Amino acid sequence: MNNKKTLPSAFDSVPFGSIFSEHMFVMKWHTDRGWHDAKIQPHQPLQMDPGCINLHYGPSIFEGMKAFRTVGDKHIALFRPREHLTRFNRSARRMCMPEIDVLFVLQKLKELILIDQEWVPASPGTALYIRPTMMAVEKTLNLKVANEFLFFIVLSPVGALYKEGFNPTSIMVSTQYTRASVGGVGDVKTAGNYAACMLAQEEAKAQGFSQVLWLDPLERAYVEEVGAMNIFFVINNELITPPLHGTILPGITRQSIINLAHQRELPITERRISINEVVQRIDDGSLTEMFGTGTAAIVAPVGKLLYKNTIHTIHNNTTGPVAQQFLKALQDIQQGHAADTNGWLDYIT
Ligand code: PLP
Ligand code: COI
Repeated sequence: MNNKKTLPSAFDSVPFGSIFSEHMFVMKWHTDRGWHDAKIQPHQPLQMDPGCINLHYGPSIFEGMKAFRTVGDKHIALFRPREHLTRFNRSARRMCMPEIDVLFVLQKLKELILIDQEWVPASPGTALYIRPTMMAVEKTLNLKVANEFLFFIVLSPVGALYKEGFNPTSIMVSTQYTRASVGGVGDVKTAGNYAACMLAQEEAKAQGFSQVLWLDPLERAYVEEVGAMNIFFVINNELITPPLHGTILPGITRQSIINLAHQRELPITERRISINEVVQRIDDGSLTEMFGTGTAAIVAPVGKLLYKNTIHTIHNNTTGPVAQQFLKALQDIQQGHAADTNGWLDYIT
């Protein structure tokens, strides 16, 4: 297949995840054979029967991670790939899907990126976004655990996730919808979670807000996540993030920021925080920053929050120093400007 495409020279006008590199990795699973037919091939459409389980009942999981072109001698490095692939296996277990061999897949991912290395962008704020995915492809309408699965990895050179870039976003608290249920699948990366968020997301957009702030599913009182990101607050110079109690995705960026905060001796607390406390503290001035964290966005400051018809403005709708500090710290490590003292980079070349 002739799939010759070229890397854009600038990413400002390229929507996130809309272009793909030339190759992909695929492998198949059958209960009788285990994983087989692993290969790197041109990026191309998949063939699957319209009766396959994934298209009807949705057993599909994915990861989102990044490779960066680091400064100096133009090496390419993956950011915490083992953690991402380990989380993939956690999602697989929850969704009754087969686990992958993390080291084998990591090796194949490196081979894939080497083949498509010209697709790793170099300018600040860009990266190669990596999307490992698995879906059930057995042909049956029977509602059961599948015995055939397809795993693939596709690569997409990206700039900033949101059109605001790294400027503050505006968010709307959803009081009507919730993202996850107790005992459900909110803490794994399965496709249906994201489909279920779209109506609230559209309603936020219709009101002029770019993301949804999700509350807990039981009381609709406690803050959980923002868009497809974990959330942090700065209150009286202390960092606060909600604890992982089963409805929040355990973000690798979240964990990295917690680690950096400990290393910098910044006070950080994992505790439940109610939306009432958030708005009260914005209004009394003790909450000075709020930001989302995730692989795609890295750090996304929140400038405006709509809750029950009132807009609350944070840090004058500008990026605060703590969000700025963590964005810079992570980007410096990812792009090789700062020493990788935690061993988060896995170099390909
Ligand atoms: N929360 C949700 C629902 C997500 O989809 C993501 C993105 O992967 C995150 C949080 C952030 O996780 P990470 O930092 O591992 O990308
Ligand atoms: C990521 O941050 O990698 C995500 O998965 C967000 C994605 C849904 C755009």
